[in-house]
Amino acid sequence: MLIHVDDDGIGIPPEEREHIFSAFTRLDRSRDRSTGGYGLGLAIARRVLELHGGTAKADASPLGGARFTLSWKARQ
Ligand SMILES: Nc1ncnc2c1ncn2[C@@H]1O[C@H](COP(=O)(O)OP(=O)(O)OP(=O)(O)O)[C@@H](O)[C@H]1O
Ligand SMILES: [Mg+2]
Repeated sequence: MLIHVDDDGIGIPPEEREHIFSAFTRLDRSRDRSTGGYGLGLAIARRVLELHGGTAKADASPLGGARFTLSWKARQ
């Protein structure tokens, strides 16, 4: 199973695309203290995917923003 989640937002710089999956990471240019969350969403999402034998990664979207790709083996 493969799911792409695309947006047309600010995007994620290539050098940050792995780092954003670390807990409590928030990139200054897209989130400040007043609007940002805890920086846990992506870390939790990746952990859930890994526990199902899958992966979660970030990339550039054809829409101009971020693309998140979630991938796992569908149960037979
Ligand atoms: N769709 C996106 N476009 C651009 N940057 C993003 C996007 N999603 C996440 N990020 C960047 O990655 C950081 C980490 O995202 P994550 O979802 O883990 O935390 P959060 O959204 O800040 O807080 P939380 O999900 O815990 O409420 C964000 O703070 C932001 O800088
Ligand atoms: Mg989030």
